[in-house]
Amino acid sequence: MVKHQGFTLWFTGLSGAGKSTISGMLEQRLRAAGAKVEVLDGDVVRTHLSKGLGFGKEDRDENVRRIGFVCELLSRHGVISIAAAISPYRAIREELRARIPNFVEVYVECPIEVLAERDVKGLYKKALVGEIPHFTGVSDPYEPPLAPEVTVNSSKETPEQSVELIWATLERLGLVSFDRSALSHQ
Ligand code: ADX
Repeated sequence: MVKHQGFTLWFTGLSGAGKSTISGMLEQRLRAAGAKVEVLDGDVVRTHLSKGLGFGKEDRDENVRRIGFVCELLSRHGVISIAAAISPYRAIREELRARIPNFVEVYVECPIEVLAERDVKGLYKKALVGEIPHFTGVSDPYEPPLAPEVTVNSSKETPEQSVELIWATLERLGLVSFDRSALSHQ
């Protein structure tokens, strides 16, 4: 079993970089270890909490602030919240960092050429020929974090390796630890 306090794991990175995949794997690992955890994924949030919001700067900022608001509430009650949204603007991420206790920023790096090649959702192809305006990394800005707690790179690592790096960061920060007393009772 894992001991933990409330914290927010904030994934940022381009579309298709691996935020959802890695965050889903971390969620499973944490849950299997008995942790209380909730994932807020941009694609999913946009069908509920942020339904109707678009991809202009104002709407993206609003989307990110809403996700941050929920993360803050959950974290305050001891739940681990994992956010996985592009969240392209540094200023809003910094705003959340200042507001949310135990804010851990995870930068999922991946070169745009690799993403365009993978193109899992077929969006890069469309964006590159101008069919999707304001597409992050192609025709809209992405501001990488300057000092994230951890950077993973999905063009160089497997998702499992990225999970290990993030897990090690959480242990280093003292946010998760194994409950040895639980072991000694077995
Ligand atoms: S954010 O910028 O507001 O943080 P969010 O993570 O919620 O973005 O949504 C990104 C997802 O929306 C992408 O993975 C992609 O599937 C889809 N999408 C549709 N249009 C765009 C666009 N113009 N730019 C980026 N992603 C888009």
